Parts: sequence; C-alpha cells; structure tokens
Amino acid sequence: MNSALRHEYLAALGVETWVMRGKSMPASPPREAMALREVAALRETAAARESGVDWPELRARVAACTRCTLCSTRTHTVFGVGSQQAEWLVVGEAPGADEDRQGEPFVGRAGQLLNSMLRAIGLAREQVYIANVLKCRPPGNRDPTAIEASECLPYLEQQIALLKPKIMLAVGRIAAQNLLHTDVTLGRLRQQVHRFGVSQVPLVATYHPAYLLRTPTDKRKAWEDLKFARDVCARV
Ligand code: URA
Repeated sequence: MNSALRHEYLAALGVETWVMRGKSMPASPPREAMALREVAALRETAAARESGVDWPELRARVAACTRCTLCSTRTHTVFGVGSQQAEWLVVGEAPGADEDRQGEPFVGRAGQLLNSMLRAIGLAREQVYIANVLKCRPPGNRDPTAIEASECLPYLEQQIALLKPKIMLAVGRIAAQNLLHTDVTLGRLRQQVHRFGVSQVPLVATYHPAYLLRTPTDKRKAWEDLKFARDVCARV
C-alpha cells in the first residue's frame, strides 16, 4: 500500500502517526498495527465486493453507488465505454465536467486527443474499452483521494475480470499510481511492462492527453509509449 493511502486510512480510522522530534517511528506500535490489519481487511473485502457480477448488474451497481461522497456532487456516473471484446483497456483518472454531463469517459478535448493517439497506432475508439479509476467526477477536477480510489477500484477490477484485456494503458500519473499502488513518478513508470492486480494483465503507463495538450513537446514521448504498448500487446 502506498504511503498516501495508508495515512489516509489511518487518519480515517483515528490513528495519528506523529513522530517526536529526535525520535524514530516505532517499528509497529500496537494501535497502528491493529489499524493496518483493519485496512488490509477493508481492502480485501472491497476487492471481493463485485467479483462474479455480470456487465448489466455491474453497471447498475455503479449507477446506484453511494460508497463515497462524490455521489452527492455527480450528475452522472461514468461507467466506461467501448467493445466488451476489446484487447486494449485504456484507464484514465476520473471524469471531468464534460464526462460528468454526458456519462461517458474522455469526451472533452482530452478525449479528442486520446482518440487521435489511439488512431495513430491503428485503433478506433470503438475497438478499445475506456474507463477511469473513479466513476464519478471529483468537484473542481481535484485529484481523487486515496479512499475514493480504493472504494471505486473494485468496479474497475470487475470490468477487467469480465473484459480480460490483453493490455492496459494507464494514461496519466494519477491513473498509473492508483492502479499500481505506488508513489513512483510517471517518468519512471513509463517504458516498462507492469502487471495489474491478481489478473496480472500487462500494464503500460503514458502521459495523460490533457497534460499533452498543455505540453505538446512531450507528445513524442507519448508516441514512443504507444508503440511500446503495441509491441507488448503483440507479444501477449
Ligand atoms: N480525464 C480523465 O482522466 N478521464 C476522463 O474521462 C476525462 C478526462
């Protein structure tokens, strides 16, 4: 578990992790060790929550979800879109304003660029499956909290179990870090084959199209990542 998630859970569980100046953190104080066991149990329960569920039931569960506070500010849940036979699963961070309004991922300017990126490696939007770490929009497009991500990830995990993609493309730092449960920078995560979860699906990370709209000079690196992912997929 990465340190942000651990600290957020510990805070939510009422466990403070203060360290006195000049003292090192005790290896595993009893209260913290207990809380970490609870955290691990919560994560296991969450992971098993949606398993065995089919597409229509999963969609209905997401539409009715009240597992975090984002349900009170969303307009629509954004389940995911694309072919249920897709070999590629593209995973972004969370819906933005356009996606929240329309209930579909990547429909705004970043979505247009994502479509072009996919086309550049010979894939139509309709051929892949597109989803996000979060199914609901965080107000003001703030980053997802660790609790929101871990409450929502079981839905994506079940989508993956149903889809059985050959490859996952994580777009952006937030998606990559949440999927891989790491704090490592995107710069260090790209150009490597990672494995996602129990299914061990190969996962490649690249830049988020919204970032590329702001920093077009990095489009060349994103192109290298897409070709890398295409080669990985061809070898699966
Ligand atoms: N950015 C994302 O990460 N996902 C979307 O669906 C839209 C914008």
